[in-house]
Amino acid sequence: MIRVLFNKKGGVGKSSLAVNLAAIAASRGKRTLLVDLDTQCNSTAYLNALQPEGDSTIADLFEQTITFHLHRRKAKEFCHTTSIKHLDIIPGSQRLSELESELDSRHKIYKLREALADMADDYDHIYIDTAPALNFYSMSALIAAQRCLIPIDCDDFARQGLYALQQKIAEIREDHNPQLAVEGIIANQFMQQANLPRQIIDELIEEGYPVIPHYVNQSVKMRESHQAKQPLIALAPRHKLTQSLVAIYDHLNP
Ligand SMILES: Nc1ncnc2c1ncn2[C@@H]1O[C@H](COP(=O)(O)OP(=O)(O)OP(=O)(O)O)[C@@H](O)[C@H]1O
Ligand SMILES: [Mg+2]
Repeated sequence: MIRVLFNKKGGVGKSSLAVNLAAIAASRGKRTLLVDLDTQCNSTAYLNALQPEGDSTIADLFEQTITFHLHRRKAKEFCHTTSIKHLDIIPGSQRLSELESELDSRHKIYKLREALADMADDYDHIYIDTAPALNFYSMSALIAAQRCLIPIDCDDFARQGLYALQQKIAEIREDHNPQLAVEGIIANQFMQQANLPRQIIDELIEEGYPVIPHYVNQSVKMRESHQAKQPLIALAPRHKLTQSLVAIYDHLNP
């Protein structure tokens, strides 16, 4: 199953959720791949997988589609192991920005889908982390994925972008990827003591949005996990925050 974490809004938890859900899948013995499509490389840094310049990253995978090579490398050759057993990563790269306009003008929007399809026998789960923008790379991801997960940070602006986002996903489904489905909206940075997050979520549910019925609390443990470069399932498997992520994973993979 190929899942993309996407929301044009920044800082809602795309990278945190992509890494943690991928790590939970790996902890269950699923052969899992994380693809970092963001020039910020946050999920790559989180998994301690930043590469020295010139090593295989997602930028190199895309670049070989617009440069001539006698020997074109297979997608699997861009996958690196991580400290988590069963979890591999195609690391992010700042060079994605330089390549974007040429990839776009040369219509390479299906290349990620082809690369991931080539690895269909290698991985049980693939998670794609995207930048907070509907750019060439997040479009590529939405075309490559079967499911889209939309994290929100439970503040009032979160709701405003959702309608437009759903429209865009419907358009991509119609034009490029009939199998793409919005699998769920993940309420992240939820504050149990405050009324507003609860109210916002209740309204979304009333409006028919597929909100996943397990909310991810705002917790300093998430930042600690980033700092330790260890996903929560490894750092604090019994923590309430980890348990809510496990509940989401189980909800998505019954
Ligand atoms: N549940 C949470 N509790 C506390 N802090 C959180 C939580 N989820 C995310 N954060 C923090 O919020 C910040 C943004 O999270 P993250 O990087 O995962 O969001 P993002 O959507 O990937 O951001 P961007 O749009 O910039 O890629 C990070 O500093 C992260 O540690
Ligand atoms: Mg991010």
